[in-house]
Amino acid sequence: MAEAPLVDATTPATFDAHASSYDDVALSVVGRVFRDRVRDELRPFVAPGKRVFDLGCGTGLDALWFAAHGCDVTAIDVSPAMVAACAARVERAAKSQLVRTVEGDLDHLDLLDAAGEQADVIVSNFGVINCLTELPTFAAAISRALAPDGTVVLVSMAPWCPPELFQGLLGRNRELLQRRRTLDLREGDDRGVPGYDGLPVRYLSARDIERAVSRSLKVRSSYAIGTALPTFEQRALVEERPRLLSALRRLDRWAERPAARFGIGDHHVIVLEQAS
Ligand SMILES: C[S@@+](CC[C@H](N)C(=O)[O-])C[C@H]1O[C@@H](n2cnc3c(N)ncnc32)[C@H](O)[C@@H]1O
Repeated sequence: MAEAPLVDATTPATFDAHASSYDDVALSVVGRVFRDRVRDELRPFVAPGKRVFDLGCGTGLDALWFAAHGCDVTAIDVSPAMVAACAARVERAAKSQLVRTVEGDLDHLDLLDAAGEQADVIVSNFGVINCLTELPTFAAAISRALAPDGTVVLVSMAPWCPPELFQGLLGRNRELLQRRRTLDLREGDDRGVPGYDGLPVRYLSARDIERAVSRSLKVRSSYAIGTALPTFEQRALVEERPRLLSALRRLDRWAERPAARFGIGDHHVIVLEQAS
């Protein structure tokens, strides 16, 4: 019997349904703090004329940021509604000439074919990688599409998130406590991200990713975001509390390297380069 595909038609439909409201979360206080921390890492590689692939571009927040810095961006997503939102965003900002949008499934796409030339920077931000199935194949595609001295930044939803576990323990919420258990997607497990019903995801630490991609890519560094900061779902806790937010932000920064080593955090950022 043929094996069921791990990512199926659920993925584009699920994300299509969220395209119009996605920015409410992504541009929330917590969303901005998380994204800023990823951009800290990207900033040294961003300059006019740099070629960037934004994999799983969503509504185009990063694609536009790169274009605003003069980069030449190929933004790819499996969800037609997300691709449309990205195209509309760059159009509104009069940056369409710097951003090419492509609708495609990263599990089956030849990145080099899709973009036409190699990239200096390849980024996949905020949980795209958790939706993919064959990470070694994905890594090989990235490696082919990456310039020899290029940089890759992948951001994964991590398996052990302290603020979420704390909330689960406090509220004796078994579902929350178990949410990030690694799923066996082949058994049709449909636990996933709250609000994204039926979306198959696997929570991956920086170590998990490092192991999965090691044939093609080498790790330069990794760190965690969201060891002390609240999750997107808990964002109301800090929305009106700037001092609490800045204290938690400092604590998060202090813990980010060891947290990534131990699999802890809401998200893990992993920075990679060509293996050889
Ligand atoms: C949580 S959103 C992140 C969007 C964006 N990178 C950001 O930072 O806001 C995840 C995105 O990954 C896309 N995605 C999920 N699986 C995909 C796949 N197999 N191929 C391409 N895109 C995918 C979804 O459509 C969605 O837009």
